[in-house]
Amino acid sequence: MNNKKRILTGDRTTGRLHLGHFIGSLQNRVKLQYEYDTIVLLADVQALTTHFEKPELIKESIVDVAIDNLSVGLDPEKTTIALQSQIPAIAELTVFYSMLVSVNVLRHNPTIKTEAKQYGYSDLTYGFLGYPVSQAADITFCNADLVPVGEDQLPHLELSRKIVRRFNELYGKGRTCITVPEAMLSDTPRLVGLDGNSKMGKSLGNAIYLSDDEKTIADKVRNAVTDTNRIAVSDKGNPEICSVSKYHRAFNRTEYDNICEMCRNASIGCVACKNNLSEKLNNILSPIREKRRYYESNVNLVKEYIRSGNERANAIGNETIASVKESMGLVMDKI
Ligand code: TRP
Repeated sequence: MNNKKRILTGDRTTGRLHLGHFIGSLQNRVKLQYEYDTIVLLADVQALTTHFEKPELIKESIVDVAIDNLSVGLDPEKTTIALQSQIPAIAELTVFYSMLVSVNVLRHNPTIKTEAKQYGYSDLTYGFLGYPVSQAADITFCNADLVPVGEDQLPHLELSRKIVRRFNELYGKGRTCITVPEAMLSDTPRLVGLDGNSKMGKSLGNAIYLSDDEKTIADKVRNAVTDTNRIAVSDKGNPEICSVSKYHRAFNRTEYDNICEMCRNASIGCVACKNNLSEKLNNILSPIREKRRYYESNVNLVKEYIRSGNERANAIGNETIASVKESMGLVMDKI
């Protein structure tokens, strides 16, 4: 159809997306969609690995996450939005790839470890431990070249590359069956939580959502943890240990250096600094809110985009599976 390189990325459908997603991946997708053939997966099967007891939440989140993507500027004419559970090629590839990964490698995956701790898992399900394998299938069912992700996903990308290389070695007979994907990392460091926690996360309860209104944002920023040694406005602050400064760095780049300087010499107080940040966040989010309102009142249109995205993804996935089975010898006329 065209010879653009392909991007594949995805979001778990376990609730709405937040500023951490925006910085880590969404912004990059929006920028890159003009240059690359972009596919965004609504990862409802991966959502099950942690939320299998909440199928209702996963179902509701499908449209919410699609709207999050559309309202930050993904153009449905350029980007394919597809629902993971509707693409059988991903499930099939997951099974084939699962032979090529040892349980110990998965156990030592740092993101799996962190998430297991976060969710309080002591004994991991097979599905949760194996989700990085399924993510390799997400990425490769369409032979993606590039994957825009946040830092926490890098171990998964590394694993995907290993699996694909091994697969090609074993079944490719000298040719590349599956494209070895590359990570594209955001140029902004991971967002800390406003509570000072090391990561903004849906499950950590410290997130600013793309769908939050102006007042909610102002409230969340007002309660953010700053330099706890700074009590009076006349105390000199230390931006290095202040969560708000990290947000200025991410969302208010032009003023960042200046604000840090003013904090260090006590010429700006935390209240003014926070008000400034809330204003900047609102400037970024207000056009996003406007688009959201449009899609929220046209949910059928959103579902239509997903339906046609599934169709396109399946056309691509079925072709991949046919060639994968062919190279593995899993075809009737070769028996
Ligand atoms: N694991 C990713 C996250 O938690 C979501 C995801 C699912 C993904 N499938 C993907 C990301 C494929 C990149 C590529 O954010």
